Amino acid sequence: MLRLGNTVNAARILGFGSTQPEQVVTNDDLSKIMDTSDQWIRERVGIVERRFAAKDESAEDMAVVAGSNALADAGLEPSDVDTVILANCTSMVPIPNYAAPVADRIGIKGAAAFDLNAACAGFCYALGVAADLVRGGSSGRVLVIGAEKLTDVVDPVDRANAIIFADGAGAAVVGPSDEPGIGPVVWGSAGDLVDLIYMRDEKYIFQEGQSVFRWATTQIAPIALRALDAAGLQPSDVDVLVPHQANLRIVEAIAKRLRKAGAREDMVVADDIVHSGNTSSASIPMAIDHMRAAGRIRSGDVTLIVGFGAGLSYAGQVVICP
Ligand SMILES: CC(C)(COP(=O)(O)OP(=O)(O)OC[C@H]1O[C@@H](n2cnc3c(N)ncnc32)[C@H](O)[C@@H]1OP(=O)(O)O)[C@@H](O)C(=O)NCCC(=O)NCCS
Repeated sequence: MLRLGNTVNAARILGFGSTQPEQVVTNDDLSKIMDTSDQWIRERVGIVERRFAAKDESAEDMAVVAGSNALADAGLEPSDVDTVILANCTSMVPIPNYAAPVADRIGIKGAAAFDLNAACAGFCYALGVAADLVRGGSSGRVLVIGAEKLTDVVDPVDRANAIIFADGAGAAVVGPSDEPGIGPVVWGSAGDLVDLIYMRDEKYIFQEGQSVFRWATTQIAPIALRALDAAGLQPSDVDVLVPHQANLRIVEAIAKRLRKAGAREDMVVADDIVHSGNTSSASIPMAIDHMRAAGRIRSGDVTLIVGFGAGLSYAGQVVICP
């Protein structure tokens, strides 16, 4: 009979980290180059400002910083990690992947390293994979990073997309635990709806905004409720809700559906999009990192996360914040 790996009962998140480019772009800045306004963007999308990377700043660069910050938050050295999963959907170069050079630049030598593309659901997909790698004994500790330079794939004067998307990276370290700190991932896809978000002419993102909005506001709250159920929890157990930061109105619609199902009025709801924009696979770990720094998430908080986006892909799980 074959021997199993070093299986453990449970995995948890040991630390978070993130980074954003320096350049802040306001709605007024955008209204100078396209037909839009600060008021329209605030009302329809909820964004006040976002960050755009410099020309010579790549998603890989941001991944290195976010990953290093997550390791520092966890109190770990690069040598404590043996696997790096990098969620990304904006790389313009498929070979090599981002994960291997990012691992090396962080100092994680010889790591198992791979990219994972589930668009804006990428972080939750990667976290699910990481938790199972740790539980199954294939990995000791896993660094999960979501890093995107969306400005590389957005037409800078396309007012349907340029007002929404932004750049940045977020990361989490996953390791073994006595108590479960990451619930089962509930994930899936709706490939029949792939035409709602795609790269047109392999250059720029195109999306049918209203259809995506309708899908997200009707289909994602039930996924979040299934993730809660899979973890054996009730909506009233949720301390913090962190949906992918796609559009503040989508976030609010998901929170409303959860409260209708029994979530508390005092449940904290992430609104990081207001100052960060939609950073795709980076948005959830970045929002959590910012909220922890601001004291809006405390250690031990039951945090429900749910990602969704192109594919169409979705994934959600419950995590206990470190
Ligand atoms: C993209 C999105 C912001 C567009 O908002 P919308 O309310 O659907 O906008 P519409 O395209 O229906 O246009 C409504 C009106 O606003 C105008 N408009 C559209 N974009 C505008 C902009 N950036 N600035 C100003 N006016 C705009 C339209 O011309 C239209 O005007 P009209 O009523 O006079 O014809 C919205 O659909 C959305 O957020 N969808 C989800 C996108 C998303 O989250 N994607 C990521 C998934 S990971």
